Amino acid sequence: MSRIAYVNGRYLPRQAATVHIEDRGYQFSDGVYEVCEVRGGRLVDERLHLARLARSLGELRIAMPMTTAALGAVLRETVRRNRVRDGIVYLQITRGVARRDHAFPPAATVPGMVVTARNLDFAGNEKTAADGIAVITVPDNRWERVDIKSVSLLPNVLAKQAAREQGAKEAWFVDRTGHVTEGASTNAWIVTRDGQLVTHPADHGILRGITRTVLQDVIEAQGLDFAERAFTVEEAYNAREAFVTSASLIVMPVVRIDGRPVGNGAPGLIASALRRDFHRHAEFS
Ligand code: PDD
Repeated sequence: MSRIAYVNGRYLPRQAATVHIEDRGYQFSDGVYEVCEVRGGRLVDERLHLARLARSLGELRIAMPMTTAALGAVLRETVRRNRVRDGIVYLQITRGVARRDHAFPPAATVPGMVVTARNLDFAGNEKTAADGIAVITVPDNRWERVDIKSVSLLPNVLAKQAAREQGAKEAWFVDRTGHVTEGASTNAWIVTRDGQLVTHPADHGILRGITRTVLQDVIEAQGLDFAERAFTVEEAYNAREAFVTSASLIVMPVVRIDGRPVGNGAPGLIASALRRDFHRHAEFS
C-alpha cells in the first residue's frame, strides 16, 4: 500500500510529498512537532497533544495554521488514508517559507505543516517491554527551553546514536548537578527501594510528556507513592525499578543503566502494571 502524507493542504503520495528548500524548518529547525499514539485506529490523548502543540507554537510565536478541530481532522484523515491501526501520527509545523534571514519573516508568511502516520510493530514492542531496555547516561548539553517541543533535536540525535553504539535503546541526559533530566525522546522514571515513583519536575528542563501526565492518573488509581523531584544517576543505579515513557513506547521498563542491572535485572512489577493499565486512563478519539 502506498503511503500518504499531508503537506500544506494536500494529501500526497510519499514520493510527491516535498517541502520547499527555504522552509524555515529545514533552514533553522524553526518549527515544532507532536507525536500521538494511534491504537485500534484511534488517536490517544489527542486533546492533550494539541494543547501542548498550541503552547509550543505560542512560545515560539508561530501562528496556529488552523483550528484545533481542523488539526484533529487532518490527523485522523492521515491515519485513515494510511490504514494505521497501532502506530503513530506525526505532525510538524514550521514558521514557513521565506528568504533565508535569521529574524522572523514577514508577518504574512504562512506556517508550513506536514502530517505523516505509520504502523508500529505492536508485537515487537510488547516483546521489548517483556525483556526491558538498556539506557546509558550522557551530559545534558541542550538549550534551556526543552519544554518547547521543537524540531531542533541535535543533542537528542547524538545522544540516541551514542546509546545505539553502546547497545542501548535510550540515553538519559544528566544535568550539571548530576541529576537525570529525561531521555533523548522519553521521560525518565525510577522506583526507589521504598517503592516511591520519581520523575523530574516539569520545569523548563524537560519536555512535559503527555504519557508522563496521564501516567500520574494511573499511579494515583493504583494507590502508589509518587514524587516529582530530580534524582541522581547514583539513585538510579540503586533503584528497584526504572522505566521510560513516551507516546510510542508507553511505559517501557529499563533493566540496565550504564551496563549495571536495575533491581534484579528484569522488568519491574510496578512498571509492568503501569504499562498494562495505561490505556484505561487514556482518552481515545
Ligand atoms: N518524543 N521527552 C522528550 C525529549 C521527547 O522527545 C518525548 C517524546 C518525551 C515524551 O513525551 P510524550 O509522552 O508526550 O510522547 C519526553 C516523541 C515520541 C518523539 O520524539 O518521537
